[in-house]
Amino acid sequence: MARNWTPDSWKGFSAAQQPDWPDTADLDRVLKEISGMPPLVFAGEARKLRASLGQVAAGNAFLLQAGDCAESFDEFSAVNIREKLRVILQMAVVLTYSMGVPVVKVGRIAGQFAKPRSSPFEKIGAEEIPSFRGHIVNDSAQNLDARRPDPARLLTAYNQSASTLNLLRAFTKGGFADLSRVHSWTQEFVGSSPEGQRYESIAAEIERALLFMRACGIDVESNPNLHEVDVYTSHEALLLGYEQALTREDSLTGDWYDCSAHMLWIGERTRDLNGAHVEFLRGVGNPIGCKVGPTTSPEYLLELCAKLNPAQQPGRLTLISRMGADTVEDSLRPLLKAVKASGHPVVWACDPMHGNTITSTTGRKTRRFEDVLREIAGFVKAHHAEGTWPGGIHIELTGENVTECLGGADALSDTDLDHRYETMCDPRLNARQSLDLAFRVAELMRD
Ligand code: TRP
Ligand code: MN
Repeated sequence: MARNWTPDSWKGFSAAQQPDWPDTADLDRVLKEISGMPPLVFAGEARKLRASLGQVAAGNAFLLQAGDCAESFDEFSAVNIREKLRVILQMAVVLTYSMGVPVVKVGRIAGQFAKPRSSPFEKIGAEEIPSFRGHIVNDSAQNLDARRPDPARLLTAYNQSASTLNLLRAFTKGGFADLSRVHSWTQEFVGSSPEGQRYESIAAEIERALLFMRACGIDVESNPNLHEVDVYTSHEALLLGYEQALTREDSLTGDWYDCSAHMLWIGERTRDLNGAHVEFLRGVGNPIGCKVGPTTSPEYLLELCAKLNPAQQPGRLTLISRMGADTVEDSLRPLLKAVKASGHPVVWACDPMHGNTITSTTGRKTRRFEDVLREIAGFVKAHHAEGTWPGGIHIELTGENVTECLGGADALSDTDLDHRYETMCDPRLNARQSLDLAFRVAELMRD
């Protein structure tokens, strides 16, 4: 257990990116209410994920972390959750089948609401209004009223997370994720595409393999591994009051866990070694992540590892690099070398999204599918050069047929972006682009 740590010890440090709540008494009331509510996940589940990530750190498994940039209160529906899960399952099947190693599935889901901003204010004409910080804080509409932080939103976020997780648990344990249904995860608009066809042939092979095993006398029916799947939840631990309110002492071990999600990460903007976010996360037993951008120095990174994982527990710490396609190889190699030499058993994951955000000719925030791929290729290359394991990918995606990222198999262009640009925050890969990406990643990992 971390020394000199309590769930509220972060309050003695400076916390970046916290909303300016207009009424702190109201905030305190809501946080107190949340701290009396049931945990969303359990310590034992977080420990199981940590063990699985330990396998990734050792080079025996691969991490697929994927989901929305920011979940929305408005787009909350069973269909939306199911479609996102479908894509994640499809990607996981492709990666598992092609790489021949277990794939650890972690969603950016059931709690991924809060967004860090480059500026606390946004200028609308002559007026300055607070920036949009995600639906857990305020609304995205461009007026003062909508942008006023409202603590009642913390409760809505808790409740939406609970029902999202409930549905995920039902889908992943109740038949939907059964390997015998591998064909049924293809959405209509994906089925006829080249990547959809490619998926169909893997699905057919898996079905044949299941028949083969059954024919060999293996009891396929009673083996839960084939019928169920673990999909864990994760989000950026940004609003520390909310995270603290869901932090509970595990009765089994006496350790503290942040029970708002299985895995939490610290963003590029809040990873100050002497800041409140690092202080908070160092004391919870969950597997945690930290985004690592191109300005990160080896010295900083080693201090971070020492602070967040002093016991050098495998699977405890995932470093999520987000360098940009052009610089990833050069920026990453010294970091890989330093961490390897220190003996810290980290998971290295590649976020190929956040270092590759551009503005289209039509003024849309977007990303090129080719840049996303190039960053992953550079990431894999850097690991091969340093003799380390490219442990996984961290992707922003949606199950819908949106047009937010450029390129991919259906070659979306600048002008296509207007067709279905629905994100509240960053541009996400659509279902076809995501599936395509899984095939390409599998190829990169095989080469
Ligand atoms: N349980 C195994 C796993 O998670 C196999 C499995 C069952 C699976 N359903 C799945 C794999 C759906 C990927 C997608 O790997
Ligand atoms: Mn994002």
